[in-house]
Amino acid sequence: MKKLTTMKKVALTALTLMASGIIIISSSYTDASHPVEAKQIITSNTTNPVKKKLPNIKILATGGTIAGTGSTSVQTTGYQAGVLTPDQLIDAVPGLKDVANISTEQVAHIDSGTSNTDALMVKLAKDVQKALDDPECDGVVITHGTDTMEETAYFLNLTVHSDKPIVLVGAMRPSTSLSADGPLNLYNAVILAGSKEARDKGVLISMNGKIGSARDTFKTNTTDVDAFDNPELGSLGYIQGGKPYFYNVPTKKHTTESDFDIRKITEDNLHRVDIVYSHADDDRVMVDAAVAAGAKGIIHAGTGNGSINEKTLPGLQDAVKKGVVVVRDTRVPEGMVTHEQIDEDNHFVNSGNINPQKARILLMLALTKTEDPNKIQEYFNEY
Ligand code: SIN
Repeated sequence: MKKLTTMKKVALTALTLMASGIIIISSSYTDASHPVEAKQIITSNTTNPVKKKLPNIKILATGGTIAGTGSTSVQTTGYQAGVLTPDQLIDAVPGLKDVANISTEQVAHIDSGTSNTDALMVKLAKDVQKALDDPECDGVVITHGTDTMEETAYFLNLTVHSDKPIVLVGAMRPSTSLSADGPLNLYNAVILAGSKEARDKGVLISMNGKIGSARDTFKTNTTDVDAFDNPELGSLGYIQGGKPYFYNVPTKKHTTESDFDIRKITEDNLHRVDIVYSHADDDRVMVDAAVAAGAKGIIHAGTGNGSINEKTLPGLQDAVKKGVVVVRDTRVPEGMVTHEQIDEDNHFVNSGNINPQKARILLMLALTKTEDPNKIQEYFNEY
């Protein structure tokens, strides 16, 4: 047998003691030719406190930039979204497995800006509901592309019935990028989903250290890592140092209080709802096209306080006569659309302060219950 060097003997002894679970303090080694400073390298495992019970978190992965890869570390646009598996995402986050017991499921592999669908939102909501109905599950994290995250988040907020935390997370830089934001965002999302503070707050968006409500948060920047906000109403809180801090709570109905229930909704229940974006000198062409395409609802993203061009108004009035529900929204990101005489006169619904893409989600769900504009106005006031 080959003779062991002194260094190898010391290392072997340390390993043997570690394996037997009885080593208490460090070993030090000094070799005349390679002096090594003595230092403590192993701490006691005989006095380990009982391991804290970790929350059980399910990660449902759908793709997006958080799972994206580029060809160089500086490629932050034009990369491929939705490449990595959820297990690869977890492995890239040091310490994640120390804060939660994580299980994963790949629901989709998409770029949400090009390939999200209402059918996928229905499937995802059913998967979230199923995960949370398991008494062993404490919370759900959904990794998602940022482009349509606000729509999926609001859909889940209105249809999933659970007071357990539901957190959407994404990234603005692909996983291969220098200073990729995905790993910390994912860590924060898992912390949030496992926290008691996040219970009964509706669906949450966790991006860049901020906690946003699904209803009010929207994408505010095309490329910056600080891309989700409600500039006017603010966030619900922050995540700092692995801990959530809440300062606001959502006031509108969500999840457990919602009239909409994913257990009773299929993609076939959802009617087509189109958004018509206004501009100077617009006319009824886009409205007529939406009606011809079979829309049962139209969100009109008007100017200012939901103003409608005089050439477009007759198109919307004709649409209402054909049974289409028209919601008067605005292309302006802040402020609300107020109830006006034009709504009384034409049976229009006003959107309050939700943006057109969120109004589309709410109108689609409202149309599963009723076509009555008065009842739909009540939904827009309550949700
Ligand atoms: C996507 O929405 O899937 C691509 C963009 C992103 O995640 O930031």
